[in-house]
Amino acid sequence: MAVKIIPYHYRSPLLQEAVRVYIDVWQRNKEESLVFFRNYAQLPYFYGFVAQQNKKIVGTAFGVQSKTGQWWHDKVAAQVGANHPTLQESWVLTELAVLDAYRNQQIGALLHDHVLNVQPFPNVLLSTQVSNIGAQRFYQQHGWQIIHAGFAFTRGHEPYVIMHKSVTHSC
Ligand SMILES: CC(C)(COP(=O)(O)OP(=O)(O)OC[C@H]1O[C@@H](n2cnc3c(N)ncnc32)[C@H](O)[C@@H]1OP(=O)(O)O)[C@@H](O)C(=O)NCCC(=O)NCCS
Repeated sequence: MAVKIIPYHYRSPLLQEAVRVYIDVWQRNKEESLVFFRNYAQLPYFYGFVAQQNKKIVGTAFGVQSKTGQWWHDKVAAQVGANHPTLQESWVLTELAVLDAYRNQQIGALLHDHVLNVQPFPNVLLSTQVSNIGAQRFYQQHGWQIIHAGFAFTRGHEPYVIMHKSVTHSC
């Protein structure tokens, strides 16, 4: 069935649809998730998309520029070194999620390829749980490599691997 990839912005009603997917996939609190999405939607080089199938929003992907002074970037820089080549001119894929019932239909791949093509940076980064072997396999199939085997962003919480991919933009 045809899937449409549609952008959303800070004020777009689709942002709330993206939050709904996120809550469903990760079992998160609604209000906190909305704040999380809205905060990111105001950061430089935010690009967010939803996947729509048969009028239903079934997936989302978003990210922002990754740079010194941002919480995620600084945590990663503290582990791999601020001068690590992958951290220069970089963008972080903050979230990629597809509703369980709609997985394994290439919707994740569509969202992934679309958002990476639109963001303008040569280096893209992400973190995913060390335990999330399925997601790591998905990303490795899409050309990502692990640059850090795992650390906890917050003390006492589960460790995340850091992955990187080079993106070539044709002019
Ligand atoms: C990762 C995710 C976005 C992939 O979406 P999708 O629409 O199923 O992706 P595609 O159909 O394009 O690709 C499916 C591939 O992902 C792999 N995969 C992803 N997550 C998996 C999991 N938890 N267990 C097993 N395989 C998984 C499958 O093996 C499949 O590869 P294959 O075709 O070689 O079998 C989706 O599984 C998801 O939302 N997972 C939960 C959230 C998550 O882990 N997000 C990424 C980390 S932040």
